[in-house]
Amino acid sequence: MVAVAILAAGRGTRMRSDLPKVLHTLGGHSLVERVLDSCSLLDLDRQIVIIGYQGEKVKQALSHRQGVEFVEQTEQLGTGHAVQQVMSSLEGYQGDLLVLNGDAPLLRPETLQKLVATHQTKQNAATLLTANLPNPQGYGRVFCNGDNLVSHIIEDRDCNIAQKQNRRVNAGIYCFNWQKLAESLPKLSTDNDQQEYYLTEVVDYLNPVMAFDAEDFRETRGINDRQQLSAAYDILQARIKEDWMKAGVTMIDPSSITIDEDVQLEPDVILEPQTHLRGNTTIATGSRIGPGSLIENSQIGTNVSVLYSVVTDAEVAANSRIGPYSHLRGGVKLGESCRVGNFVEIKKTTIGANTNMAHLSYLGDATLGDNVNIGAGTITANYDGKQKHPTTIKQGTKTGSNSVLVAPVTLGENVTVAAGSVVTQNVNDNALVVARSRQKEIPNWNDQE
Ligand code: UD1
Ligand code: CA
Repeated sequence: MVAVAILAAGRGTRMRSDLPKVLHTLGGHSLVERVLDSCSLLDLDRQIVIIGYQGEKVKQALSHRQGVEFVEQTEQLGTGHAVQQVMSSLEGYQGDLLVLNGDAPLLRPETLQKLVATHQTKQNAATLLTANLPNPQGYGRVFCNGDNLVSHIIEDRDCNIAQKQNRRVNAGIYCFNWQKLAESLPKLSTDNDQQEYYLTEVVDYLNPVMAFDAEDFRETRGINDRQQLSAAYDILQARIKEDWMKAGVTMIDPSSITIDEDVQLEPDVILEPQTHLRGNTTIATGSRIGPGSLIENSQIGTNVSVLYSVVTDAEVAANSRIGPYSHLRGGVKLGESCRVGNFVEIKKTTIGANTNMAHLSYLGDATLGDNVNIGAGTITANYDGKQKHPTTIKQGTKTGSNSVLVAPVTLGENVTVAAGSVVTQNVNDNALVVARSRQKEIPNWNDQE
């Protein structure tokens, strides 16, 4: 039996922000939400979030999550005081309590799972996650008697110079035997530099307490200020990229690439420099994205290339080529083997297979069939100043350079539109449409005196 209590009542003074610290976001998710997510491999009986500073906001931010209970800590008198607030809700609970700092967003679910398993097999009174940090400044130091048995935790500000040399730190992630913890919590004092009730003091009353070292010390990072928030983003990105490279994705200059966590990539995808993949994006095998591309909430098929382009809310089928300098947005569906070229913008448009629009065009609210060729500079005039109107271009049709298609309008199959036309009426299948004034020539114009 495992319950979790997350400490999320503090203001986070060092962030210098109006927003409570745990609501700052890291890669699109709030810190507290990430901490909850780190429990995803555990079968939890209870999920308690301890709120205080702007508690209503924190509650609101978690309102979409199932089964989260909130306990209020009206005055923030320290991490030990925060845990004291759950005593009445957990009265009589027989099991273990995981206590997690709300500002430790980088924990992997596997690490928590191992921590709990170790705690339960060894039947410890408490097991805490520790790490040996190259620079332990600011963290509580963990002192052990051989065999990873913890004797004390001393906060950075309470350490003397010799104690500060200890690089083994407390990550603020603990698994407790709840009954034993409940007996120790009332014993906490405020005998420390900050005159707060420190949770770490319970170590003095519990036995045995075991230190469990994280395999990757970067997971234990806590966030106290904006610099640490930004460093955490780098750690998260490095982790995401390492995982994708292990899964068969090639990255050229990875430090210039960013990838959101929900992105899904297949093996043999190639990501070139300055590429950013965001939101709910998937990229299928053989595709080459970048250099210099942004793909957001889009599904990219196999063997597609996207060069110096922006693609948002779009579906792109196999073998299509996009860019350089194309912009697809707002619900585009591009068929197989299409070509979208220089300075082409496409919005809310569905396009069949083998259709090309290679230069300088705008297509909005349109439906294009297969094998269409959009000439350079073709524009769908979809907006009359009040409303948007649709354009349909059926299969095999070719528009001449600089043609304007004034919507609503339909071009049938295999239509040819003469260059420079302004098409305002529907055109039948197989027709040539010329919608411009005839060329006039006035001879000897420059010979007149
Ligand atoms: C804490 C630990 C320290 C550890 C470090 C890891 C204590 C005394 N110290 O220090 O040993 O190395 O985390 O990052 O526990 N909070 C409340 N109510 C309070 C005070 C804090 O809910 O009254 C919450 C905060 O919102 C935060 C978490 O507890 O999410 C940790 O508090 P913080 O002040 O950041 O503790 P540290 O000084 O980092
Ligand atoms: Ca902290």
